[in-house]
Amino acid sequence: MTKKKLRSQEWYGRTGKDGFIYRSWMKNQGFPHHLFEGDKPVIGICNTWSELTPCNAHFRDLAQALKRGIWEAGGFPLEFPVMSLGECSIKPTAMLFRNLASMDVEESIRANPMDGVILMCGCDKTTPSLVMGAASVDLPTLVVSGGPMLVGRFKGKKIGTSDVWRFAEEFKLGKLSQEEFIEAEAAMSRSVGHCAPMGTASTMAAMVEALGLALPDNATIPAADSRRKVLAHMAGMRIVEMVNEDLKMSKILTRESFENAIMVNAALGGSTNFILHLTAIAKRIGVELDLTDFDHFSSKIPLIANVQPSGEHWVEDLFYAGGLPAVMKEIEKVLHSEAITVTGKSLAENIQKAECYDRNLIGTLEKPIKPDSGIAVLKGNLCPNGAVIKPSAASPALLKHTGKAVVFENIDEFKAKIDDPNLEIDEHSVMVLKNVGPKGYPGMPEVGNMALPKKLLEKGVKDMVRISDGRMSGTGFGTVVLHVSPESAIGGPLALVQNGDLIELDVPSRSLNLLISEEEFEKRKAKFQPIQLPYDRGYVNLFLDKVNQAHEGVDFDFLQGNSGSEVKRDSH
Ligand code: FES
Ligand code: MG
Repeated sequence: MTKKKLRSQEWYGRTGKDGFIYRSWMKNQGFPHHLFEGDKPVIGICNTWSELTPCNAHFRDLAQALKRGIWEAGGFPLEFPVMSLGECSIKPTAMLFRNLASMDVEESIRANPMDGVILMCGCDKTTPSLVMGAASVDLPTLVVSGGPMLVGRFKGKKIGTSDVWRFAEEFKLGKLSQEEFIEAEAAMSRSVGHCAPMGTASTMAAMVEALGLALPDNATIPAADSRRKVLAHMAGMRIVEMVNEDLKMSKILTRESFENAIMVNAALGGSTNFILHLTAIAKRIGVELDLTDFDHFSSKIPLIANVQPSGEHWVEDLFYAGGLPAVMKEIEKVLHSEAITVTGKSLAENIQKAECYDRNLIGTLEKPIKPDSGIAVLKGNLCPNGAVIKPSAASPALLKHTGKAVVFENIDEFKAKIDDPNLEIDEHSVMVLKNVGPKGYPGMPEVGNMALPKKLLEKGVKDMVRISDGRMSGTGFGTVVLHVSPESAIGGPLALVQNGDLIELDVPSRSLNLLISEEEFEKRKAKFQPIQLPYDRGYVNLFLDKVNQAHEGVDFDFLQGNSGSEVKRDSH
């Protein structure tokens, strides 16, 4: 078989002035001429290393293992940086910049001489931004995640990111001192890696493994475990073969693989952020997927993995129990197990030898960890284009609940009023937060799991119904309705809710309604005034202009689809 000419030869294989320009400056790194002669696939290593993205701060080291694998298999690795989004530091929210990072990734891949790509992903947004960008180019692409942190220990108890919310409540109630709080900070983040529960980062690492874009065990090997480097080495070897096989992303990302990802996410009790990111990826690669698919495919699947926040343990523990392959094995009969993956083999072949070593960690379809999991999609006059809730993280008693609305017009009003002893609110109230959607905040931050009022926490109230057009951290929990679409800032019905209105949430029948007359509804709608945000320049201005709504994935309208990998014109 004669091999297809490598894409990188459109640069390095040129004669005359153009070839000189494309090769000469590269040689200042000490690369010998034979590397440019077209028998070594150039593998771009798209690295989100940054000291401001602590979850990915070990990536320079991890990239060395990747390079060893690429060299061993006969490839030529070239590492390049892209915008890195650190969930905890970036204001006002990393989600505001996911699409910007995806543009950086897309253009960096297309514009440069590479034949295949490794995406180095870790902290929440670093996975979807890289996968979205790469999908719009569609080269052979393999994802390597950074791995979860080792589980922390504080006062003799295992802790991870999902404890942040509990610590914050205890601190508010004076049960934890400032000193203890600071001690907990260090105890929780004791090793390299991303968040230890099945938060958004691990949800994303599992998503790419379930989609078939990563090697088996990508989702769960701890960042600090030497086997993470072994996985990177093997990924480096495999991407070279993928180039030779021309195994592009579009051959792996099929409708079936998206359905698999939704079912696996339900089995894991993964983050609600999954919906936004998977929807955006589907639109990039051109696979039809809408909100109802998430409900339809996840409603068949119970909670299989006993991992926080839906369960009790940690992603590290899940690895020791058999990892994601063992979880997928339990639901294999409902998965499209013939789906092809980056290994060049089917999902079924990848998980053939998977075994569960601990039934406390991995349940079965017959004996799941919890009967309900996944994501429920709600419709009603409050969310004509949908809203979502994660039943496994909610209180069963509140899944059917009617209560009086306590409205916060924006996040500042919420912060100013929530602990006011005179606020009219009790445990039956429904907390409504407006203007935290894609355009309203802007950037759709993770504030949907609003902290409960101090006076109710003191009474021992643990959960209340909360509704917003924002998101929730993958480590969050509670009866929290999120992603209300259309959002309030553009006149979605959420904008019309007033204090004292009755709101009816009925998760079993998938509805969310504002109980006011149609006449009153129309009257309020006629009076609606969109909020004016003070952004008239720069990226945020572009974001406000081009971003679509939650049910469409919060991508920019002009980024949907794929522009291929060809670039016709030369640089000089
Ligand atoms: Fe980076 Fe949680 S903050 S993964
Ligand atoms: Mg998060």
